[in-house]
Amino acid sequence: MKNLLVTGGAGFIGSNFVIYMLDKYTDYNITVYDKLTYAGNLDNLLGVADDPRYSFVKGDICDAAAVTAAVKEHNIDTIVNFAAETHVDRSIMDPDAFVKTSVYGTYVLLEVTRELGLERFHQISTDEVYGHIPFGQSSVETDSLEPRSPYAASKASADLMVKAYFVTYGLPVTITRGSNNIGPYQYPEKVIPLFATNAIDGEPLPVYGDGRQMREYQYVVDHCEAIDLVLHKGVLGEAYNIGTGEEMENMEMVQILLEAMGKSHDLIRHVADRPGHDRRYSLNIGKIKALGWQPRHTAEEAIIKTARWYEANEWWWRKIKSGEFKKYYQAQYGKRLAEAG
Ligand code: NAD
Ligand code: TYD
Repeated sequence: MKNLLVTGGAGFIGSNFVIYMLDKYTDYNITVYDKLTYAGNLDNLLGVADDPRYSFVKGDICDAAAVTAAVKEHNIDTIVNFAAETHVDRSIMDPDAFVKTSVYGTYVLLEVTRELGLERFHQISTDEVYGHIPFGQSSVETDSLEPRSPYAASKASADLMVKAYFVTYGLPVTITRGSNNIGPYQYPEKVIPLFATNAIDGEPLPVYGDGRQMREYQYVVDHCEAIDLVLHKGVLGEAYNIGTGEEMENMEMVQILLEAMGKSHDLIRHVADRPGHDRRYSLNIGKIKALGWQPRHTAEEAIIKTARWYEANEWWWRKIKSGEFKKYYQAQYGKRLAEAG
């Protein structure tokens, strides 16, 4: 493993992963292959833009010829696939791109891996593939996949295709299923950057329903460390959960965030819930711990660190929030906030 193609590397987790890997492995070369959708942002990669070991190719993972050309030109031996449409609420509004990128696009990457005989294909998946998890239970990697949103279904489909290529063609694959990541460069449609940036502007924080849904909020660099470990020590054909073992209700997350930012709790608005909202995710992380990993941040530390980053980096998010985002925000929240009063 030396020359990595990081698909979706201009997004939130992908860009953190690229920065982390270039810093850790001085002999690795990384090519980011990214379509630059609304969520892709080259500002995320400014810190490595002048590094001779880094290069960027603009392209769609559904375009087999373009992926093949990039793999050949950069002598790629490993593909790490972060590329996806990633926001549950957008998947409810319009699932089309989710199916195209995660189902067809993942298939294209697997085919390129097979045809060119690459050393490894690694799929970045999510805890959402397991669906809602009742209290007292947590998901292990062999559990059945029971996705409930179009986003989760598109990701679960990709996982199944990856597994099928392992079984059928013996492709050298691995999968990691991460919980909710937070940290620098997360597009402010996701809950924590949305709430942090709204709070800075004194805008309301739209909490879905009663806000008692549970998530495992995880610091993004912890997730990147675990992906790195699976790339180097993971067993081929296997999936690995990457969570924190620490569940938190959204209301608790909001309280921590507002306290950390010194903002009033009066900003909280309970709005109409997301259709089909999964109440709880919970990952059993025994398998990744057995490989030698554990999270470095508690959820509270991760939330506070993330709040500080958004406070210090208005240059990054202000231009995002002033563009396409405004139309999206109005469509997603306009009526709900008006009804919440
Ligand atoms: P993101 O939305 O910030 O970034 C996605 C990136 O993929 C963007 O740069 C976008 O331009 C690119 N992309 C989208 N469609 C593409 C296509 N057809 N071809 C090439 N590039 C394309 O997402 P993220 O939060 O960084 O998530 C990255 C991966 O991690 C996704 O696969 C997601 O399902 C998974 N994941 C995310 C979380 C989370 O909390 N954010 C948790 C677990 C797993
Ligand atoms: P999100 O960041 O969209 O991640 P996911 O749905 O993939 O877990 O949402 C995290 C949690 O926050 C989830 O329970 C939905 C909730 N949420 C809100 O209450 N309000 C919001 O405006 C958003 C975007 C999410």
